[in-house]
Amino acid sequence: MSNEHNQEKLSSARFSESTDAFVEEFTASIPFDYRMYKQDIQGSLAHAEMLASVGILNQKELDAIIQGLGQVQQEIENGEFNWSIKQEDIHMNIEARLTALIGITGKKLHTGRSRNDQVATDIRLYLRDEIDRILKELQRLQVGLVDLAEREADTIMPGFTHLQTAQPVTFGHHMMAWFEMIKRDKERLQDCRKRLNSSPLGSAALAGTTYPIDRQMTAELLGFDRICENSLDGVSDRDFAIEFSAFSATLLMHLSRFSEELILWSSAQFQFIDLPDRFCTGSSIMPQKKNPDVPELVRGKSGRVYGHLISLLTLMKSQPLAYNKDNQEDKEPLFDTVDNVQNCLRAFADMVPAIQVKKENTYAAAKSGFSTATDLADYLVGKGLAFRDSHEVVGLAVAHGIETGQDLSEMSLETLQGFCEDITEDVYDVLTLEGSVSARDHFGGTAPNQVLAAVSRARAYLDL
Ligand code: ARG
Repeated sequence: MSNEHNQEKLSSARFSESTDAFVEEFTASIPFDYRMYKQDIQGSLAHAEMLASVGILNQKELDAIIQGLGQVQQEIENGEFNWSIKQEDIHMNIEARLTALIGITGKKLHTGRSRNDQVATDIRLYLRDEIDRILKELQRLQVGLVDLAEREADTIMPGFTHLQTAQPVTFGHHMMAWFEMIKRDKERLQDCRKRLNSSPLGSAALAGTTYPIDRQMTAELLGFDRICENSLDGVSDRDFAIEFSAFSATLLMHLSRFSEELILWSSAQFQFIDLPDRFCTGSSIMPQKKNPDVPELVRGKSGRVYGHLISLLTLMKSQPLAYNKDNQEDKEPLFDTVDNVQNCLRAFADMVPAIQVKKENTYAAAKSGFSTATDLADYLVGKGLAFRDSHEVVGLAVAHGIETGQDLSEMSLETLQGFCEDITEDVYDVLTLEGSVSARDHFGGTAPNQVLAAVSRARAYLDL
């Protein structure tokens, strides 16, 4: 491969001295934007085809460009490409190599285009590809949640408010709550993708170009739904990156809550679940330990993803139109967000189907916290008491239970009648955990058959 290191910068004719070595490094983006090479080539191919169709390039030139870009792509993918910081970024590295390979025709590729609309196009194409990958992972996680919800549709656990035992719920119902969060995240991402999918190509540096370009053609070739309608906005808009980061921050917030519950539930104090060994690590000093590293790390990753959202918002704040070099700073936060979202989702999509629920423990925990107290209060309302009065009665019964170490369901009928004489034998139907969850039998409730209904709605939504 020829050595490009000494090749002069493409845009250096105006200058009387060469760029300071430090400045060259300081301003270069090739150390990180090389990862958009595929999209850069894809954009260039579409642009070249369009230039040929409007008569700016002839067929021979187009063929040479297509062949040359194909070779460049191959060199990159074979690890043979000689990246040069002198060429500043991915766009100039590829163009310089293309020119070295096919001569002057390589330089013609940039007709009617600027790196400003080129980079705007590349990031959109790159992010669109990554979004499609992320959507698939979101779907995989949702499938795992739905399957687990079905498996544990009638598994009883305590539901919490303030992390205090509140009312019994089904484990499946809890899984479907997570499913709903991920569903909203997915919708947010789909929405972001729609707005992202506009073509900035043809905006050129900022004002458009004097060449008779066909923006519709390049947009269609690149799979964009529409064209950015204003060239100034086209080169400077990074809203889509911010929207993607906002989606990511919200997703990570959900995964972090999710992680927190898995961490608590797998602790010796809760013992609600077992996380598969392959998602945990041991301790170098405490032989009994099995640490939930994966959820902990996901919980931790949320911090940097939030940070990237703030970085991007701050990056764009106060920037005058149109392109500014500041924009080069959009890539590292965006790339790191993409990587972390993908890794966290992968971890969860792999881990969720392997969660083992310890039903006896979740059942015992639900039983120990007077979780059917509300059911008793509702029962008394059914017997004609005002809710406030029944609340009072049940409070006394619970106090008795705490004193004697008994659950409400374990008290004799006589004892219960001591608190309210309207109580009869049928009270035990509502004091059992099974009775309690089954009674919440309406759309969105925790009853096992409602969980199964939610599961089948979810499967229809997932197209399963
Ligand atoms: N590397 C630049 C970026 O990432 C590409 C666009 C540069 N354009 C310019 N006029 N300096 O934003």
